[in-house]
Amino acid sequence: MCLLDLDKYLEEKCALVNGALRDLLCAPDTYPPVLHEAEHYSLFAGGKRLRPVLVLGAAEALGADATVAINAACAVECIHTYSLIHDDLPALDNDDLRRGVPTCHKKYGDAMAILAGDALLTSAFELVGRTTGVEPGRVVQAVVELSSAAGSTGMIGGQVVDIESEGCEIPFPVLEYIHIHKTGKLILASVRCGAILAGATDEEFKALTRYGEAIGLAFQIADDILDVEGTDEELGKKAGMDELRGKATYPAQLGIVESKRRASELVEVAVKALEGFDSKADPLRGIAHKIVTRSS
Ligand code: IPE
Ligand code: IPE
Ligand code: MG
Ligand code: MG
Ligand code: MG
Repeated sequence: MCLLDLDKYLEEKCALVNGALRDLLCAPDTYPPVLHEAEHYSLFAGGKRLRPVLVLGAAEALGADATVAINAACAVECIHTYSLIHDDLPALDNDDLRRGVPTCHKKYGDAMAILAGDALLTSAFELVGRTTGVEPGRVVQAVVELSSAAGSTGMIGGQVVDIESEGCEIPFPVLEYIHIHKTGKLILASVRCGAILAGATDEEFKALTRYGEAIGLAFQIADDILDVEGTDEELGKKAGMDELRGKATYPAQLGIVESKRRASELVEVAVKALEGFDSKADPLRGIAHKIVTRSS
């Protein structure tokens, strides 16, 4: 798949996800409006929609219609957006800019940002539960997949160790734990949810798991590199904050060159994992490359 095709694919899937999010979630004027406005503000400020596109892409790689996975795709984006709102709070990373606009707490205050995040996380499970046209057992499996990826042994575990490690020297395995958990787990769950809802065989599921693990870690390494090399305008968030806050990052521990080498190596692992798949998996192959070549 050439670059132009991938961009078109991403644009189409983004539009599909954005339309479904608007259809499935409460309108911004739903009572209490301040809450629903805050949710919409953060959700629709921008965002690459990488995770929902991975849900759809994994389902399509297995020959399923994207519609079986659209609710799960929206759910993953809700969980991701909630995680960004809370990640930016003064008690966590204390950031003022997100997706090119003031962070949710800057616009609506800390209390409303916490509550908007809570509401988005909770809505995610309602959305997956409302999946239609798929055997109920698979829907339950998708709920288990998402909740375990988001919870204490997944994303939140990673966020806890990230916060605890600020300003500390930590061994490399701890850094790896942070990255695999705070970011990798939800990306992996996105791929696996698509696979579950599409009815993957054990072998397909294992291959997609290897793919998801590799791109999940590569994504956070790339995020660390962009924090060093990117600009506020490109990123839609303040660059250079990791060093300022003493965050545990790949560039801080290994340097930029070695971080880039490891990210590229992971892309190769991801693409290799898809060896047994035909051209329907080309968007997943393209996304793996894009994760390390992106500038935003
Ligand atoms: C940012 O994720 C937070 C991380 C997990 C590194 P994205 O870079 O996917 O953010 P959006 O969704 O495009 O805003
Ligand atoms: C965020 O990691 C991970 C989650 C939100 C779970 P970062 O703190 O590095 O993300 P950015 O750089 O603020 O987007
Ligand atoms: Mg953080
Ligand atoms: Mg942050
Ligand atoms: Mg970051």
